[in-house]
Amino acid sequence: MARVRMVRWACWAVMLGLCALATHGEMQQQCPPRSDISPCSCQVKKNGLDILCEFTDQQHINNAMAILKGKSLVIFYLKLRHNNLRKLPGFVFLGLDIRHLTIHNSSLSVVEEASLSSIGKMLTQLDVSQNGLTQVPSAAYKNLHHLLILNMNHNKINSLHARAFQGLDTLEILTLYENKINNIDPEAFVGLEKKLKRLNLGGNGLTSVPQKALVILDMLKKLEMQENRISDIREGDFEGLKNLDSLGLAHNKLRIVPSRVFSHLTVLNSLELDGNNIDTVDPEAFAGLEENLQYLRMGDNNIHTIPTEALKRLHRLRHLDLRANNITYISEDAFAGFGDSITFLNLQKNDIRTLSGMIFENLNSLETLNLQNNKLMHITEDVMEPILDTLRVVDIMDNPLLCDCDLQWYKNWLSGLKDKDDEMMQKKRTVCMMQQEHREYNLQSLPLEKMSCVIKSPNLIPNAATALTARFMAAFSVCFWAVIYI
Ligand SMILES: *[C@@H]1O[C@H](CO)[C@@H](O)[C@H](O)[C@H]1NC(C)=O
Ligand SMILES: *[C@@H]1O[C@H](CO)[C@@H](O)[C@H](O)[C@H]1NC(C)=O
Repeated sequence: MARVRMVRWACWAVMLGLCALATHGEMQQQCPPRSDISPCSCQVKKNGLDILCEFTDQQHINNAMAILKGKSLVIFYLKLRHNNLRKLPGFVFLGLDIRHLTIHNSSLSVVEEASLSSIGKMLTQLDVSQNGLTQVPSAAYKNLHHLLILNMNHNKINSLHARAFQGLDTLEILTLYENKINNIDPEAFVGLEKKLKRLNLGGNGLTSVPQKALVILDMLKKLEMQENRISDIREGDFEGLKNLDSLGLAHNKLRIVPSRVFSHLTVLNSLELDGNNIDTVDPEAFAGLEENLQYLRMGDNNIHTIPTEALKRLHRLRHLDLRANNITYISEDAFAGFGDSITFLNLQKNDIRTLSGMIFENLNSLETLNLQNNKLMHITEDVMEPILDTLRVVDIMDNPLLCDCDLQWYKNWLSGLKDKDDEMMQKKRTVCMMQQEHREYNLQSLPLEKMSCVIKSPNLIPNAATALTARFMAAFSVCFWAVIYI
């Protein structure tokens, strides 16, 4: 019995060995001799060859391709960069198995119909960025039935014609950043509706949202239209995009965020509106975003008050960025009825002159508060008190702060911080002006006695006052005094 079993084992081992050899042989790829494909170079990578041709011309590339042909090689990457390759001729890749093709910065302006069809069964990524294409070479693309990523950034395309991407039914990522697109046919994206997840139309000349073209893109998760000239968005513009997770409209020419404009985007998580000229946010502007919006960026606009009415409904909001607007003051009820979920609030580079009352009372989760570069002269403990136990980072630099006893909270709060947060805060140089002495003091070393302040000891936050914190704080104060005295 034992012997039979051993023989059986031996057979298995031999067979496995043979199989391994066979697969190994099949996978084994070899570069042709260097001189044969010069000036291109070749490297063997785990999944196939990596071939690079730079600073050369059509003829040399053709020669190299001819050498590679008919050898059942897997060309995992073919990278043609900085060449003079105005035209991609028909059949140039016939007999090659190319998985990722890059033709970058090579003056490409004509892609002949039969140039790519032969590699359509294998090609998963095509990058033709930084060339001279003036339109989408649809005829050449139509057989790329396995393509996942198409990058046409930095070309000279000025319009997307009907069915420009027809045939690319597996495409997941399409990027057209920095072209000259100002016109998109309503049928431009026909054929992409089943798979397209990301679309980048940034850096073009769009003046409105190409709603009719976009409406079919059911599966789209990320839509980027930053750096266009969109001056108007309206209700219905984003209809159909029912899976959209992230929308980028930064650096356009928007002035108004109108009522219900995003109401179809019920799963939207992130909205970028920074760098527009927004001065009006309708109270219903964010209707529909209640359940999912977490990131809202509206920096670099012309907003004069916290748009409380519009924000109120966003009960999942975590990150609110209103930097570089024209906010001069924060009203008592600015965060009334919302803000419980906000962890990050950026108000830097505004014109805020005073903070008073219980404005931060509802910000029960706030971890980062940025008030840098405003016009604040006083920040009292009364205002800060509701958020001091959750805050981990506060930036109040570049304000005309006056040294007063009310600023004690800063030092006391700092002394309760832990490792990383503390390191980060120690790097900030936050100062106030002591008027009598005409000099600045670091907020951490206010001469409280000299100022005849009633000295408050650090407030130990109940849930943070564990043995560990106490030990850490002991160590911290030793270091602190050491630093002061050295
Ligand atoms: C583009 O390619 C040309 C050569 O054809 C080269 O001189 C130039 O530096 C390249 N530009 C960039 C941005 O790489
Ligand atoms: C803020 O308002 C002032 C005057 O109202 C204006 O001059 C300035 O350009 C505005 N700033 C921004 C960033 O819009």
